[in-house]
Amino acid sequence: MTFAAQKLILFGATGDLAQRMLLPSLCALHADSLVPAELRIIGTARSAHDDESYRQFAAKALETYLPEDRKAAIPAFLACLFYQPLDATDPAQFPALAAKVGDVSAGLAIFLSTAPSLFEQTIAGLASCGLASGMSRIGLEKPLGISLDTSRDINDAVASAFSEDRIFRIDHYLGKETVQNLLALRFANILFEPLWNASHIDHVQITVSETVGLEGRVGFYDGAGALRDMVQNHMLQLVALVAMEPPSNFNATAVRDEKVKVLRSLRRISASERVTGQYRAGAIGGVAVPGYDEELGRASSTETFVAIKAHIDNWRWTGVPFYLRTGKRLPERKTEIMIQFKHVPHSIFAGQGAEAQPNRLIIGIQPQENVRLSVMAKQPGLDRGGVRLQEVPLDISMPNAFAGTRKRIAYERLLLDLIEGDQTLFVRRDEVEAQWQWIDAMREGWAEKGMEPKPYTAGSWGPSSAIALVERDGVTWND
Ligand code: BG6
Repeated sequence: MTFAAQKLILFGATGDLAQRMLLPSLCALHADSLVPAELRIIGTARSAHDDESYRQFAAKALETYLPEDRKAAIPAFLACLFYQPLDATDPAQFPALAAKVGDVSAGLAIFLSTAPSLFEQTIAGLASCGLASGMSRIGLEKPLGISLDTSRDINDAVASAFSEDRIFRIDHYLGKETVQNLLALRFANILFEPLWNASHIDHVQITVSETVGLEGRVGFYDGAGALRDMVQNHMLQLVALVAMEPPSNFNATAVRDEKVKVLRSLRRISASERVTGQYRAGAIGGVAVPGYDEELGRASSTETFVAIKAHIDNWRWTGVPFYLRTGKRLPERKTEIMIQFKHVPHSIFAGQGAEAQPNRLIIGIQPQENVRLSVMAKQPGLDRGGVRLQEVPLDISMPNAFAGTRKRIAYERLLLDLIEGDQTLFVRRDEVEAQWQWIDAMREGWAEKGMEPKPYTAGSWGPSSAIALVERDGVTWND
């Protein structure tokens, strides 16, 4: 249903995500008059704040995380903020929340970013006090389960109070400008689509590397690991966007219908097609960092790195490996998709000793936001010793191409879409379940084989077996 919500409840209003991302995003949207002028934001969490002390709390977060040129907007934004303390395990506290929110007939958006253990009680509480009516929609922040079964439980609980068209499952990668640009690149240009298939593409690489370690998320991360924290959601969404058929429209149904077909076509991974690792003490950028077990304070078999050779079993992609790798404490922070095209069928320059390298398209998502196509060019000269070829990049830097456009963070886009009710960049239930199905099958395989992550030194590109995984196919990672 299309309506712009006039009220927004922020669960987890004192949490890290709220301070770093949600409050700054909402403040920016408010400053640019992109949200309804009369929007009221009701924060809720266990902490004992009242409106005034929550505004002070929010002001501190905004002073810390907003860019300098946005800070003038803080006072006006604070006036939209209200607070109601709530212990979600106590159903008797929900009526007070409903009273604080007041009339929701003009539309309510709810952003739920709470511990998974509180999900079901929170949904039941919302339903019991009338906050899950037809004029309310809910955004769900990860983690949405740790397996297919647990994600189904969460999905069932939410579905008992909200219809699917009112459920907005967040994958913040979909809010990133460059991720959305992938669709423009593929479907607003004639250039790539005729080549975007197994006849012309040799393989695809997707890397999401991070330099950070546990970052104080001890409780959560050790129960998840890289596969469930990064591959199940963000990386599989990238795979789906790279591999999907052209949707007929840029709308929620058409786009998600095509993505889910890809996710359902992922082949079960065999033992030889994945590598897991866990970082040991090392150095990043010249700074010594401890190993995972030292950060955790005990030994653990949770993987902080995973590399996978994935396959999509359909006509377009048969025989094209998708090499995926992600890890913590790698040498640099980088999210990048590389499309490696095939060799030309016949090189007319081979007789002259010149070698034509196959083209590569690299889509930099972060921190570099660029699209780089490597093409072969003739080296300038009179060619007395024969033609010499050289790879040169056609490089589009997004910040340069769109200089003067304000750079928005992913949550600005996602919060605005939640408030306005556009589900295109949110994950549908069938997608999440297809993602979990593939991940669960892989984890079952690990368990059967008693697979332990291989150690790697912090600051390296993961265990050496991750290099071997691609090298035996004659491929090198694009480091
Ligand atoms: C989160 C993961 O979903 O994504 C984190 O839980 C990870 O472990 C983060 O660090 C990465 O997000 P980004 O936007 O910094 O690439």
